[in-house]
Amino acid sequence: MKVGFGSDHAGIELKLTLMEFLKEKGYECVDYGNYDPNDRGDDYPVPGRKVAEAIRNGEVEKGVLICGTGIGISLAANKVPGIRAAVCSEPYSAKMAAAHNNCQIIAMGARVVGREEAKMIVETFFGQEFLGGRHQKRVDMISQIEKDYGKA
Ligand code: RB5
Repeated sequence: MKVGFGSDHAGIELKLTLMEFLKEKGYECVDYGNYDPNDRGDDYPVPGRKVAEAIRNGEVEKGVLICGTGIGISLAANKVPGIRAAVCSEPYSAKMAAAHNNCQIIAMGARVVGREEAKMIVETFFGQEFLGGRHQKRVDMISQIEKDYGKA
């Protein structure tokens, strides 16, 4: 599977750690930036949008986004129609984000989760299939909101 990674300056170190972790497990990892941990003026919406658009246009299948909290970068990604990004700080939520919400993106806060916890979160997220069934209807209801606003 091809996975897109994105972070602002706060998340670069954790992003590189997780890219290595998933590469060792056989995933193809693509880094959509940002690249300079010393550039404190960089903006999380840029990589959040890039990874979300890469999923939307089929360049990659799933994504991992990291900023200080995981909040800003996931908000940006969720503005791209059809994209569902969940901020998770522990594996249970990561499992449900995949199983129930069919999220394509897992987001984390580098100032919130430790490195080993983050590895468990991505391992859980990528190890879980969407369960469909009654959950599909609810995901479709989320898509309908986008359609109702002309954004699908
Ligand atoms: C950057 O300092 C910080 O605001 C950003 O990484 C993120 O936490 C925003 O949601």
